[in-house]
Amino acid sequence: MKLWTGRFSKEIDKKTNDFNSSISFDQRMYKEDITGSMVHATMLAAQGIISKKDEEQILKGLKGILEEIENGKLVIDPEAEDIHTFIEGELTKRIGDAGKRLHTSRSRNDQVALDLRLTLAHEVNAVVTQLEELLVVLCKQAKKYSDVVMPGYTHLQRAQPIVFGHHLLAYAEMFLRDLSRLKDAKSRMMNACPLGSGALAGTTYDIDRNMTAKTLGFDGPSQNSIDGVSDRDFCIEISSALSIIMVHLSRFSEEIILWCSYEFQFIELDDAFSTGSSIMPQKKNPDIAELVRGKSGRVFGDLMTLLTVMKGIPLAYNKDMQEDKEAIFDAVDTAKMCLTAFTPMLDTMKVKTENMRKAAAGGFINATDCADFLVNKGLPFRDAYKVTGELVALCIEKNLTLETLPLEEYKAVCDLFDEDLYTAINLEKCVNDRTCIGGPAPQNVINRATEIENDLS
Ligand code: ARG
Repeated sequence: MKLWTGRFSKEIDKKTNDFNSSISFDQRMYKEDITGSMVHATMLAAQGIISKKDEEQILKGLKGILEEIENGKLVIDPEAEDIHTFIEGELTKRIGDAGKRLHTSRSRNDQVALDLRLTLAHEVNAVVTQLEELLVVLCKQAKKYSDVVMPGYTHLQRAQPIVFGHHLLAYAEMFLRDLSRLKDAKSRMMNACPLGSGALAGTTYDIDRNMTAKTLGFDGPSQNSIDGVSDRDFCIEISSALSIIMVHLSRFSEEIILWCSYEFQFIELDDAFSTGSSIMPQKKNPDIAELVRGKSGRVFGDLMTLLTVMKGIPLAYNKDMQEDKEAIFDAVDTAKMCLTAFTPMLDTMKVKTENMRKAAAGGFINATDCADFLVNKGLPFRDAYKVTGELVALCIEKNLTLETLPLEEYKAVCDLFDEDLYTAINLEKCVNDRTCIGGPAPQNVINRATEIENDLS
């Protein structure tokens, strides 16, 4: 069925119909479309715009359509222009005139703006749940490895001692921000219900927009009918929040890939989350992490699509906006897929704690602590820094570490050194003493992980 019968004397060209149609990707909104129509019909009847009898027929008809789509009895017509057209057409086939009255005081423009919001509200909830599951795993692993000393890096060079749990919790902080960004975007999206904006100029019927907005879970109706139908900020905000999630997952993936390389050997991924090579029998590849890193590009692309689609279109609705759905759905689906694979991969990884500790023993990551020792003895930090630099150079020359360099060598460079030095540069002590807020001390890690767990539950 075409909705614009009357004005036109010919059927649309077949290929043009395919080009124009959004049914292949907007049919996933069938439930939300039916929900919106039910609430609209109830409001129309309550306001005396349609009869009670029409309302009953519409509600019964829509309920039947919903059930039949869900149980597979009703197949969505791939030739339909979009999901709104399909459902209205199907309803009219079933109940006749009452079905034709459903669209009173409504346009597909406010309808699609509503459906998309309702659909994305569910999707955002799903991503929120997945992020919470990831956070639970992160906290569990952080607690388990709260005292595993490893090198912290800057410039990918060994820098200072940290514990593995602290490194993991850095990602937990990122995902917590992601959670709050998603919830924030959702609350703004559900702030203003577009239904009742009509095509762009509202309606002369005495509709009750407060009623429809509240029933559909919004804070209230949108306050400008033009903005109501042409706003897609919520798609941009959600895809931007998803893009930032993907940045975090991608950085994390990059580290996982490094950590399970032969060069690092900090972790080993479970066989269930690794793949082999078709030619090299020894290979165990971190494909999941690589794919997550790669798929971040898709989500950024979706965000760019949405920004570009929206940036040049005049008010109000323009068909360009139909392009919003594939982009935002792809962003949501990709992020969900990545989280589905990533969380159990992290949950099942084997951590090679001895290798982390071994790596921490090389690279002079306690050099700052050595300098701090001298500071505690009264030497200004800049001088202490220089003395320690000389000692590091000496160690490199003699192929020793700060731990194995004899005390006489220390004393020869600076007489403030004594036997206590070795305790001060002990790596376990170095992390245990870093108890400042946000520092990597094991107790801090346990406390913060517990705090996050409690906030989540
Ligand atoms: N399929 C359209 C979309 O996704 C629905 C709105 C169509 N409105 C219109 N006036 N052509 O944007």
